[in-house]
Amino acid sequence: MSNTHFHVTDADVHRTKSFVESGKAQYEAAYAGFLSRYSHGKYWDELEALRKSDYQRLDELGQIYLDYTGGGLYGRLQVEQHMKMLLSGVYGNPHSSNPTSLASTALDESARNRVLSFFNADPEEYMVVFTSNASGALRIIGESYPFDDNGQYLLIFDNHNSVNGIREFAHRAGAPVTYSPVIPPDLRISEDALYENLAKALPGGNNLFAYPAQSNFSGVQHPLDWVEIAQSQGWDVLLDCAAFTPTNRLDLREVRPDFISISFYKIFGYPTGVGALIARREKMAKLHKPWFAGGTITVASVQADSYYLEDGVAAFEDGTIDYLNLPAVEIGLKHLEEIGIDRIHDRVASLTAYLLDELTTLRHENGNTLVKIYGPITMEARGGTISFNLFDPNQVIFDYKLVEGLASAVNISLRTGCFCNPGAGELALNIQQKELVDCFSDHNRMTFEQFAMAVTALADPESVGAVRISVGLVTNFHDVHTLVQFLKSFLNVQSEGFIWTEAQA
Ligand SMILES: Cc1ncc(COP(=O)(O)O)c(C=O)c1O
Repeated sequence: MSNTHFHVTDADVHRTKSFVESGKAQYEAAYAGFLSRYSHGKYWDELEALRKSDYQRLDELGQIYLDYTGGGLYGRLQVEQHMKMLLSGVYGNPHSSNPTSLASTALDESARNRVLSFFNADPEEYMVVFTSNASGALRIIGESYPFDDNGQYLLIFDNHNSVNGIREFAHRAGAPVTYSPVIPPDLRISEDALYENLAKALPGGNNLFAYPAQSNFSGVQHPLDWVEIAQSQGWDVLLDCAAFTPTNRLDLREVRPDFISISFYKIFGYPTGVGALIARREKMAKLHKPWFAGGTITVASVQADSYYLEDGVAAFEDGTIDYLNLPAVEIGLKHLEEIGIDRIHDRVASLTAYLLDELTTLRHENGNTLVKIYGPITMEARGGTISFNLFDPNQVIFDYKLVEGLASAVNISLRTGCFCNPGAGELALNIQQKELVDCFSDHNRMTFEQFAMAVTALADPESVGAVRISVGLVTNFHDVHTLVQFLKSFLNVQSEGFIWTEAQA
């Protein structure tokens, strides 16, 4: 199968670079304008100082990092403190009671408690299961939730694939699966449709409702009120907080979902490989783990073909937890507490507001817009993630792969594709069910690029992917200004002017 992609020429790169360079002349005036127009929070200067002292590698290496929804960034001190801790102690596998094992256990339990206190969770009510990432937390729910034909799985179109994937467990158990739609262009939920679906909870059944507190596609923050509304109608609620927690306060005494999934690297960059399922104890008791593993049992017998599961969290932490990295989770949480999640939130909100205003006003000389944003264009109930495509003066799309190629050439890290959130993408990009079903009738495994081409051939949509930028903890004005300059390099340029090449996949 052939795979069309762009060959970014030296001339294209040169042109883009000179555009970005020329933006430097306007930087001071633009920054002053930003500071006067946007409420940037009284702690702006402190976060500027933090970026310079703790995250200086970004500027030293000239990197413009705009993929915080993909992964957060760690500060220098976090890594140094962790290394110091590792080098000053002796830590063994925690599944034991020797001194080095107990040393690990003490650190790991301290990290567990810190997670609860960071989210203001009552330890009597909630428990923390460490996993390898948010997907690991979601998998526990998928494989252990007691789906059956007297229950159901309700989710919304706007979900990460790791939440969508739970439907396979529901299908296997004969539990119906229902998707509530989100509506373009804002990609917010149709609340009437959702409430109709919520009203269909089966009495006494195992009804699971899953949604993200913040979309990783559009940045939409779906209402947290749904948690209580759904619970009062007989639903267990799984709130995917992976994209929400890096820049928003989650207070588990104010909102009480039954299950919460998070990844720590998204919040503070380091360590990778650790996430958590935070769950209400009462609802954890409802889960049936379908297998056992080392660390999850009190005893198992080969001859008796039997086992007893551990109580509580231990039953769900398969094998050895990432015991040397868990202390780094505590260090990361302390780091965020010192900065203050509300300050991060305010900073991100002002930078996002600036970006939304700039992006929506970029126009070609003929008056046509350059940027089409998928999702809300005001700051009401949205976070710092913006997905969009670029269009030329004749409103012909610039392929997102071209945008990514040129962005990379000027050291801008952004994301393209569908960001593991196909439902929001399908609705935003107006791709119809029929074309999608037809594409899956080919049983040969397809890459995303091949699939995108197949859908394009059938449906001729604008595109099957988009560009995503996301701001976070230490994004500064220079980052967003550079992005705007980069986007300006597409003004008054014809999309056909770029060279396509055919590559064999
Ligand atoms: C909203 C959301 N949920 C779940 C995930 C899965 O996270 P991980 O890849 O760390 O398992 C992501 C990752 O981008 C996400 O944005």
